Amino acid sequence: MMMAGLIPVGSISHEGATGPVKARMDAMGEVSRNAKLLGLMAKSGAIDPPTAADAALQLRQYAAEMPGLFQERMFDAPSEALPEIWENWADFVAKAQAMGAAAIQIEAAGADPAAFSQAVQNLGQSCTACHELYRLKQ
Ligand code: HEC
Repeated sequence: MMMAGLIPVGSISHEGATGPVKARMDAMGEVSRNAKLLGLMAKSGAIDPPTAADAALQLRQYAAEMPGLFQERMFDAPSEALPEIWENWADFVAKAQAMGAAAIQIEAAGADPAAFSQAVQNLGQSCTACHELYRLKQ
């Protein structure tokens, strides 16, 4: 058996996650994948509205699912969730809704580059606003 101390810290985040924690991490992985795709479109200016709308729709669905995904008060390693989530539940839910709101702005922006990049920026801020308070520092 490998000694825990020999495992580089960067690789343990997902390792051994099960049940609700794994479900959350997997969902957040999908959130991240969709956000990256939108970020690339914003950066390159090559906006494909149908692809963007699909990514935004997924983000909106994950935002709606977030309270359910975090229903269980679980924050032991390998989870990176902080216990403050369950002490400030209404705020946590509001921060998930902010992600959903940014996704709606992305859909509404269509192919307008300025509106699209502003919306993607708002999306990025919605991630940071929640992670700052509710996720272990990386
Ligand atoms: C409402 C709060 C909230 C929002 C909004 C949010 N996150 Fe997270 N995110 C979390 C929490 C809490 C965790 C840690 C979950 C755990 O480890 O149990 C996390 C974990 C992650 C992870 C690590 C997943 C893993 O496999 O360990 C990634 C990547 C991530 N978030 C990306 C994003 C991106 C990108 C956005 C914005 C588009 C975003 N998140 C929006 C709360 C949020």
